[in-house]
Amino acid sequence: MRRRTFYAIVSLALLSWAGLTFHLFLQRPQGKVHRSSKLNDQLDLLELELQKQLRSNEELLIKLRSLKKKNIAQEKDSKSEEIIKESNSTSVKPSPIIGVLVFSCNRITIKRNLDQLLKYRPSKEQFPIVVSQDCGHEPTTKVIQSYGDQLTLIRQPDQSDIPLVGKEKKFKGYYKIARHYGWALNKTFHGFNYDTMIIVEDDLDISPDFFEYFLALYPILKSDLTLWCISAWNDNGKNGMVAENPEILHRSDFFPGLGWMLTKDLWLELQNKWPKAFWDDWIRQPAQRKERACIRPEISRTKTFGKVGVSNGLFYEKHLKFIRLNDKFVPFTQKDLSYLKKDNYDVEFVKLVYGTPAVTVQQLTKGSLSHSNPVRVTYTSKDTFKKAAKALGIMDDFKSGVPRTGYRGVVSFLYKRRWVYLAPTAEWKGYDSTWS
Ligand code: UD1
Ligand code: MN
Repeated sequence: MRRRTFYAIVSLALLSWAGLTFHLFLQRPQGKVHRSSKLNDQLDLLELELQKQLRSNEELLIKLRSLKKKNIAQEKDSKSEEIIKESNSTSVKPSPIIGVLVFSCNRITIKRNLDQLLKYRPSKEQFPIVVSQDCGHEPTTKVIQSYGDQLTLIRQPDQSDIPLVGKEKKFKGYYKIARHYGWALNKTFHGFNYDTMIIVEDDLDISPDFFEYFLALYPILKSDLTLWCISAWNDNGKNGMVAENPEILHRSDFFPGLGWMLTKDLWLELQNKWPKAFWDDWIRQPAQRKERACIRPEISRTKTFGKVGVSNGLFYEKHLKFIRLNDKFVPFTQKDLSYLKKDNYDVEFVKLVYGTPAVTVQQLTKGSLSHSNPVRVTYTSKDTFKKAAKALGIMDDFKSGVPRTGYRGVVSFLYKRRWVYLAPTAEWKGYDSTWS
């Protein structure tokens, strides 16, 4: 509109100029001029008129110039407004922001883990990755640095030796890991001020829906105070022992670790008493757990490829390498996961488990049951648990009295494609921390 007014005024000015010149041209006397006084008067008048026209043209020009200036300024303004708007929209922070903290030491195979994290990460802004390196191993540092600004590298500064005597000497690795965890968690929760973090170790493969899983469970972790972690790991998640449904999630009193999410509130609770070694067994003790549970998937969202590491490779060869890693993307954020909250979950869980017919281990191993419906196997002591667990092929150890994946004492798993609940009697009163 402004541009049009501008052109109209310019054309008007030009037209009046042309008109006037034409008029003058017509009035020009021909041949020899004998100027009569009348003609002189007329000429004077014309001169006056011309001067008047020139002045008004001049005024017009001035007006035009200022209009043009205003127009340019306005255009600039609206453009910069747009730029501000644009930059605002790109700087709008996603919510929630969940930091991903990757622990590293001296394995250049961290590349395998980082490649997967970057491949499946839906947003750099929502899931900033921090790799924390211990051990000062240069080749590993180089690998991490090769990712440029896709992640942040921090280095554990305290590389002093940890003096240990006698039998403890062989556990130095566990001391170093605990020292590193303590430092890095402080750095990221306090230094970087993250509110929630996913902990990853450098020898983990991850599933395509790894981030989707944690993002969907974030509100559940935040709102259900009886939860203290979301884990990607099923301790009994071996091939052939898991249900073929990647959507299934459970509550677990056993802290699984191996790809897990915690909030800053939990860190504030633990930071001042963080242990010198064996942090994962320490965190499982009643004084830390305080009867809180984790969410774990039926099919693991992580799998360790760290055959050579701080613990011996035997555990890897006998157990870890058989864990099934989920390969299907489940759109968890589009699902209602509120059934996992304690208030909704427990009543249903107890009904389900204790409403299931009880059978013996022998009936299962011999395959003498006439149906394939879920069943319950009862244990009444540490030994009967261990015996049943061995016979059915699940983990038979306890940490602070809690069996792996146990919830209210119940371990749920698949045996020959049938759901089995290895459960205490219905009168169960809680875990016995002396069971180990
Ligand atoms: C096992 C656990 C691991 C736990 C650790 C501590 C499994 C499969 N793994 O470690 O989740 O954290 O016990 O109790 O159950 N690291 C350092 N500094 C070192 C050595 C290692 O920071 O001096 C880092 C590694 O980079 C890795 C993590 O600690 O990210 C675990 O080390 P790893 O060698 O994989 O030991 P695991 O036996 O798997
Ligand atoms: Mn490991």
